Amino acid sequence: MWLGVESSCDESALALFDPAAGLCGEWVHSQVSLHQRYGGVVPDLASREHLGNFGWLLGEASRAEGFEQVERIAVTCGPGLAGCLAIGLSLAKSLALAKSLPLVGVNHLRGHAFSPFIPLHSEDPTGFRQRLAACLPHLGLLASGGNTLLFRISESLEITILAQTVDDAAGEALDKGAKLLGMDYPGGPLMEKAATGGNPERFDFPAGIPEARDWRFSFSGLKTSLRYRLEKMDDAQLALDFNDLCASYQQAVVHQLIRKTRHVLRAGKYASLGLSGGVANNTLLRESMETLAEKERLPLLPALKRHTGDNAAMIAFAAWVDPAGCLPAERLSFHPALTLT
Ligand code: KG4
Repeated sequence: MWLGVESSCDESALALFDPAAGLCGEWVHSQVSLHQRYGGVVPDLASREHLGNFGWLLGEASRAEGFEQVERIAVTCGPGLAGCLAIGLSLAKSLALAKSLPLVGVNHLRGHAFSPFIPLHSEDPTGFRQRLAACLPHLGLLASGGNTLLFRISESLEITILAQTVDDAAGEALDKGAKLLGMDYPGGPLMEKAATGGNPERFDFPAGIPEARDWRFSFSGLKTSLRYRLEKMDDAQLALDFNDLCASYQQAVVHQLIRKTRHVLRAGKYASLGLSGGVANNTLLRESMETLAEKERLPLLPALKRHTGDNAAMIAFAAWVDPAGCLPAERLSFHPALTLT
């Protein structure tokens, strides 16, 4: 049994993963309502909350069936907020020391990359590696508040980043756009709600980097374009156009994600297409990815909605499925910067 620990941003999370029986339990505390007041995640507050929450989360996990069988611990070691990573690492190191258990570090992005493959408790884990092998090579789109990446998982489980954003992440672009429109943080889901019933063709927003051979994402022009448009509107006009603005802005973000995914997909050979990260909750994005996958005759493997955000199930699972991608305990420190190792 693996115990997963995740604390890279504003979720404190633990999970139990049994290679012989799939995912056995998960405990997540989200700080989103706390940070809402400040319009975004406040790093020092986030660390303090982790410190307060891991105690009772661990209490709950330790009463669960299977906790006594924990033989290994996997902890997120980056990228993320330095203070937040340090709390999860301290917890994991202390537990490993107290219980004399082996400990490994898992890159948070590798966790997201493998999140569509996590076998649930009811699934037959014995055939799992064959099912995974049938999905490789895999092209994954990870779209979250901090990252926007297209990556390839090879037959030997090597992960290569093929495309990333030159400025904002997709979720960041939605959150910043929503803020300009007067919505709370995180704005992505609120914008999605307001976009329902709006006309997505009403306003034109920039499409990022237009060249098909340039795979990089870019979302900052989108936000600037919205700001200029809003500067020319009075309150009455904004109220009238609000839903259309949300629908058009959301569509511009989703279209860019789909367009770049299609370009990368057509330049290589893949057996499946994946979708992960917080923005994967967006219905327009999920449906557009389904349409793309159907056209390309590939299975779409979206992460379960509860595994799109930060969670410890993906950390424990990534440690088990890809031990070569883990950092050994003796080299375990935190790595806040965006890398895949
Ligand atoms: O980054 P992420 O995976 O989790 C954490 O950082 O904890 O997911 C958060 C991001 C935010 O930018 C949020 O606005 C976006 O995912 N998001 C959505 C939706 N749900 C979450 N964006 C669009 N539509 C949604 N339904």
